[in-house]
Amino acid sequence: MLEVRGLTTKYGAISALRDVSLSVGAGEVVGLIGPNGAGKTTLLGSITGLLEKSAGTVTFDGNDITNTAPEKILRSGLALVPEHRRIFADMTIEENLRIGGAVRTAAERAETMEEMYELFPVLGDRRSNAAGFLSGGEAQQLAIARALMSRPRLIMMDEPSLGLAPILVDLVFDLIDQLRDQGRTILVVEQNATRMLSAADRAYVLRSGDVVADGTGRELLERSDLFDTFIGG
Ligand SMILES: Nc1ncnc2c1ncn2[C@@H]1O[C@H](COP(=O)(O)OP(=O)(O)O)[C@@H](O)[C@H]1O
Ligand SMILES: [Mg+2]
Repeated sequence: MLEVRGLTTKYGAISALRDVSLSVGAGEVVGLIGPNGAGKTTLLGSITGLLEKSAGTVTFDGNDITNTAPEKILRSGLALVPEHRRIFADMTIEENLRIGGAVRTAAERAETMEEMYELFPVLGDRRSNAAGFLSGGEAQQLAIARALMSRPRLIMMDEPSLGLAPILVDLVFDLIDQLRDQGRTILVVEQNATRMLSAADRAYVLRSGDVVADGTGRELLERSDLFDTFIGG
């Protein structure tokens, strides 16, 4: 479904990604792990069209989207749950969701919003409240629901468990399982390597802009060398 080939992205003269290749198949949960500064967020930004690439190609559902505008990429079915959630604090929960569904018709939006309130009851109960009053775990649910409002075929999440209390980290990983059971395709960036490798079908390890390992979650969990040297946790 998603095919990244030889991607290089630079900030000025410095390459944050070097010749990165990865793929995500329909229905897969793929993890992207690696330490702080490895280039994980840069990779997602490069895929969604927010960052300019120096080399390489991105293909989504067989279409070359390397130089496609972000809004068109979103419309084509690829959504991002951004790092730090980036919810609109002054707007209500419902308004946040409506923005997420802006690329769909009003009828589709209304239907998907009801699905979201079923999937995330806490959001339904508080739909008219300002999103800024949500707790960290609730805000993460809103960020995920907002991305799902665009009816993506592939959803990418950037550090969904970051900064959450342990019980809410469990909730995020339960949610990833639930989305997988619905048949959704997910690419998740995580620093919580152990949890991510347990949840993922396959994963890639990124370090200083290079993919240094990939395999099934189980295979990578057994690579103690990776853990000792740079993954941590
Ligand atoms: N806007 C930017 N300008 C310059 N350098 C950046 C910018 N964003 C990220 N970087 C650098 O690129 C590298 C990768 O960053 P990032 O993709 O955010 O890593 P990660 O998400 O894995 O923590 C880091 O060395 C970081 O300092
Ligand atoms: Mg990041």
